[in-house]
Amino acid sequence: MTGPDTLTIRRPDDWHAHLRDGAMLNAVAPYTARQFGRAIVMPNLVPPVTTADLAAAYRDRITAAVPAEMGFTPLMTAYLTDKTDPDDIARGYGDGVFAAAKLYPAGATTNSDSGVTGVANIHGVLERMEEIGMPLLVHGEVTDPAVDVFDREHVFIHRVMEPMLDRFPGLKVVFEHITTSAAVDFVRSRGPRVGATITVHHLMINRTDIFRGGVHPHLYCLPIAKREQHRLALREAATSGEAQFFLGTDTAPHAVSAKEAACGCAGIFSAPCAVELYAQVFDEECALDKLEAFASLNGPAFYGLKPASETVTLVRDPWTVPEHVAVDGGASVKPFLAGMTIPWRIMD
Ligand code: NCD
Ligand code: ZN
Repeated sequence: MTGPDTLTIRRPDDWHAHLRDGAMLNAVAPYTARQFGRAIVMPNLVPPVTTADLAAAYRDRITAAVPAEMGFTPLMTAYLTDKTDPDDIARGYGDGVFAAAKLYPAGATTNSDSGVTGVANIHGVLERMEEIGMPLLVHGEVTDPAVDVFDREHVFIHRVMEPMLDRFPGLKVVFEHITTSAAVDFVRSRGPRVGATITVHHLMINRTDIFRGGVHPHLYCLPIAKREQHRLALREAATSGEAQFFLGTDTAPHAVSAKEAACGCAGIFSAPCAVELYAQVFDEECALDKLEAFASLNGPAFYGLKPASETVTLVRDPWTVPEHVAVDGGASVKPFLAGMTIPWRIMD
């Protein structure tokens, strides 16, 4: 049985995107803006976006990188450090510069060296965020080198997430890019003040795909893809329509030279085809009727924003994902599923 050949939904938002800076920003931002009305922009630049002033300046650079007629709004986030000033964060949120703040455990992922070394160091900030209703976005992996890389999310739930949620019972938290059935269960168990983003690559690949016939650096990201049973749990959660789960691509471009290297860096660049691939997944799960909730309604509701008023139409009309996206200065970035033909397309 095949489903419908077209689907019109409110314009989606991306609740987790890395847009980078400089020439890379100029090259990648239009791909996100083509599909999404808004995106939560991650602050892990070098140096990181730690203050409201830095975020306002970064927001201007993003706006300049996207043609105005695309109607794209970047939602900025604060990079929390051990030294973050609660007043600056609260002021930035009050002024509408910050939509949220991001907790990177120091050393957990790309450009997280200035991150938080222990949640106790930001208790003052979390208390203030709880008071003002500002969401905390969490990269949920422990950095303990003794913990297996495939267990880092699961261990984080017990070591960090549970005690933090218990200590701040009113804090709104997004468990970013969840990859395990344990995280799905945990998010459900904690009720509406805890949400989770789910990437499209974690709905499509498992850890075996990374090593199928050789190592595939363009499928390497953090948190790393897990076993098949976890991919299936994520697909069930995403397509459930439940309010706690929403779209976050974690599109994370790196130059091909940095990915195809002896020590390749983590990140999958999905912006050129993300909404189309989510549609494919929902179609495969016979859940196209739930795509709008996941992509366009649940995220704004969690953040206290209105859903988009404009719509987009997806059509079943195969096209081929580009092999490369060029970056000024000679670098290039390889999209997720580069060169593959995929079934759904967004109508221009
Ligand atoms: C992200 C990046 O490259 O900035 N990489 C990734 O693998 N997802 C950082 C992150 O979100 O962990
Ligand atoms: Zn990310």
